[in-house]
Amino acid sequence: MRIFSGIRPTGSLHLGNYLGAIKQWIDLQETHECVFCIVDLHAITTPYDKKELQKNIFETLIVYLAAGINPEKSVIFVQSHIKEHPELAWLLGTITPLGELQRMTQFKEKSKTNKAYINAGLLSYPVLMAADILLYRAEAVPVGKDQGQHVELTRSIAKKFNQKFGQTFKEPESLIPKEGAKIMSLTDPKKKMSKSDDPKSCIFLFDSPEDIQRKIMSAQTDSGKDVIYNVTKKPGISNLFTIYSLLANKTTQDLEKEFKGKNYGEFKKSLAKIVIDYLEPFRRKQKELSLREVYLQEILKQSQSRALTIAQETMREVKEKMGLL
Ligand code: TYM
Repeated sequence: MRIFSGIRPTGSLHLGNYLGAIKQWIDLQETHECVFCIVDLHAITTPYDKKELQKNIFETLIVYLAAGINPEKSVIFVQSHIKEHPELAWLLGTITPLGELQRMTQFKEKSKTNKAYINAGLLSYPVLMAADILLYRAEAVPVGKDQGQHVELTRSIAKKFNQKFGQTFKEPESLIPKEGAKIMSLTDPKKKMSKSDDPKSCIFLFDSPEDIQRKIMSAQTDSGKDVIYNVTKKPGISNLFTIYSLLANKTTQDLEKEFKGKNYGEFKKSLAKIVIDYLEPFRRKQKELSLREVYLQEILKQSQSRALTIAQETMREVKEKMGLL
């Protein structure tokens, strides 16, 4: 079974990206053929600084490697380096109903936050995402909760293609983790942690120990004093519970017992230590990798040729089936 997933290089990656997506990838690469993409063509659908884009692409690659993606096992490449992605997206766009795209939650949200930048690329974003997945005939897509709707649309595009042009694609499933699929903002636990938000609301994977400590200690908590997990009544502390539980590999019940009678401050202090220790190897590897540009370029080059072989084969079949060859 082949796995595909990707991340937009729009800024530093955070604990939400890690717990919702990357952490699953590390386990999956042991048992499956995995293709992980840095989706730069998606990144340009919202306002961006062209001088920062290449830097962000390399930073995303460094995160993949520092978190434990093994380039000898998994394919890691940059989306715009393989022109079959936009090519397939164009073809799939011709069978995707406009109404389906207009009802996508991410399109509606991003149109609201970027009112001066509602472009056609933002609308057809999920078609390019479907092309990413179907180009590699991936059967499963490990993502956080917010991307589930896009994977659903990919399934319906695959189905439609098969009905119209003959069986070609399997309908890919999303792999959304039971815990950690939606890590919330530290400053507003009703919103998801997001790269484009205030840096205080996110723990970035390469944050310094001092920044981690400061952000966790000032994270919004709830009324009352008890350190208990209750998402509806105590969304702030419950979000911290989720992070604690996933990084320390303890259940929320165990943590409740451990912190019975203690206060929010003690819980946060302990969590800050857990996060700082967990991310220590990430910071160390980031320092090493950022000095090895030639090595990073080589990984992308080698992976690209592996990805291209699969992509070209799919495109040949798709074009033939659509009467373009
Ligand atoms: P992106 O770059 O917004 O996010 C990358 C991954 O991180 C997950 N994620 C979260 N998970 C838990 N809590 C959060 N607060 C949180 N924030 C983000 C996302 O669900 C995602 O898995 N459209 C995609 C990129 C993409 C893609 C693809 C993914 C393009 N083509 C093909 C899978 C397959 C996106 O914008 O992700």
